Amino acid sequence: MKDFHVDFYTLNDLRSIAEIEKECFEKPWSYESFCMEYADKNKFYFVAKTPTGEVIGYGGYAHILDEGHIMNIAVTAKARGKGVGTAILAKIIGSARENGIGAITLEVNDNNKNAIALYEKLGFKLSGLRPHYYGWDQPARIYWLYL
Ligand SMILES: CC(C)(COP(=O)(O)OP(=O)(O)OC[C@H]1O[C@@H](n2cnc3c(N)ncnc32)[C@H](O)[C@@H]1OP(=O)(O)O)[C@@H](O)C(=O)NCCC(=O)NCCS
Repeated sequence: MKDFHVDFYTLNDLRSIAEIEKECFEKPWSYESFCMEYADKNKFYFVAKTPTGEVIGYGGYAHILDEGHIMNIAVTAKARGKGVGTAILAKIIGSARENGIGAITLEVNDNNKNAIALYEKLGFKLSGLRPHYYGWDQPARIYWLYL
């Protein structure tokens, strides 16, 4: 049985989001960056929480014209492989649909096998590579999902 739920984020979640960000990425966004995201009405973030309220993952997108751009998605290491990333991404897709968005795009490091598997599982299609995006030898894969 699923022991987490995914909801729209609140101000109180920002510290936990920044902690997960620090754990998951070499160049993490700061707590202050997430405060700026929170103040932007075109940004939509969701958090996965355990029944006790612990934040175990987050993900969000920017609504730009009629497109959605996934900013990030991350799950704390101890909670991975249990469907949390899938549930967050499904929530993002549902929210984008509700907002009348026609297509969602994202960049992912060409070496990030787990994230690539997650995006492809939910129907994102590879549209090309952007060389040197994450470093001189680390291209980004560009994905699109048409809604
Ligand atoms: C990518 C990430 C968010 C996936 O979160 P998760 O909660 O583990 O994902 P799920 O359990 O929902 O798994 C989704 C799919 O991803 C793939 N996947 C996830 N973990 C995997 C692993 N260890 N090995 C192989 N495939 C894996 C599978 O296809 C899986 O679907 P399935 O279980 O139906 O086969 C997580 O690994 C993470 O936070 N990584 C670090 C941050 C990051 O790189 N974010 C993406 C930036 S673009």
